[in-house]
Amino acid sequence: MPPEKIQKSLKILGTGTSLPERVMTNADLEALVDTTDTWIRDRTGIEERRIAPDDASTSTYAAGALRAAAENAGVALDSLDAIIVATSTPDTVFPSTACWTQRALKLPGAAAFDVSAGCTGWLYALEIAANLLIGGTAKRIGVVGAEVMSRVLDWEDRSTCVLFGDGAGAAIIESGDGSQGLLASNWGADGTLAPILYQPAGGTQMPASEESVADKKHVVHMEGRTVFRHAVACMVRSTQEAMAAAGVEPDDIKLLIPHQANARIISATGERVGIPAERTYVCVQRYGNISAATIPIALHDALGEGRIERGDLLAFTAFGTGLTWAASVLRY
Ligand code: ACO
Repeated sequence: MPPEKIQKSLKILGTGTSLPERVMTNADLEALVDTTDTWIRDRTGIEERRIAPDDASTSTYAAGALRAAAENAGVALDSLDAIIVATSTPDTVFPSTACWTQRALKLPGAAAFDVSAGCTGWLYALEIAANLLIGGTAKRIGVVGAEVMSRVLDWEDRSTCVLFGDGAGAAIIESGDGSQGLLASNWGADGTLAPILYQPAGGTQMPASEESVADKKHVVHMEGRTVFRHAVACMVRSTQEAMAAAGVEPDDIKLLIPHQANARIISATGERVGIPAERTYVCVQRYGNISAATIPIALHDALGEGRIERGDLLAFTAFGTGLTWAASVLRY
């Protein structure tokens, strides 16, 4: 075999998460909407999720995850050249949640901006960060996925409110020595399908008004079945293309870390890609779908469980609103 080509050298120095303390179980949801624990487990695999208190916002968890990741990496937060926050539930329309995160951390100085690519956001952010490192624009970057999904849910709509949760995950990455990093990545979007999963009001298309609030336009609107179909197809294609570009086979991948939306989407994706369940990481049962935060949280938990060692080959894949999709093959 020819020597492996690391396309974008980078090293993940440390990871961290921050999650609300409050656990909402499926039984708790049974008291809110017409649903059952069995329905939720069977259709989604979700058992519980974390829900943020009123006085917390997305930057609360972004800051917590970044602090935890810096501690895990053994580096000072003020050594970061940039903070990128992937989110669909920003603190405010402007400024960015990354800037609110800096404020929460009392950490002015580094470049700070958000990436809006739905559940694919963290992989988009990782790709951007890798290129900033390669281009020499930055040497050390905090890449965060953070969401407070509970703020944009209709708690009377059983088809969406059971699916999501709140929290954040982060990784500190820096320029590598060529032995670790991205072998290949694949990303894309299909904006023509934007309305199958979106929050209609609160932006310039439909500014907040009494009517928009009364019509429940500030919450998640989703065509669940259509999303499901596209999610599997896009994650499978994207992962296959990333693996082909990296010159690796499914058997070479130590762990597939997919976006955690639904256990059925995850198993269908793993099956079609050719990576068996024992090498596919699943934590959706603990947290529900935390959109852009699921992959860094899953990576952190998998590392904590000893499922990844230095030098392992990992595959990431995600799909989300936009529609957006991405996959990366990374030598850890
Ligand atoms: N409890 C009980 N019954 C429910 C619930 C609920 N929480 N929600 C919906 N139902 C009912 C529906 O009303 C419907 O009833 P009907 O047949 O009497 O009309 C029945 O269950 C089947 O509804 P479907 O929507 O067809 O159910 P499906 O098997 O497609 O599962 C689900 C729904 C879980 C939402 C699925 O479509 C899905 O996972 N889609 C992907 C959505 C997703 O993950 N989005 C996240 C953002 S994108 C991403 O992260 C990838």
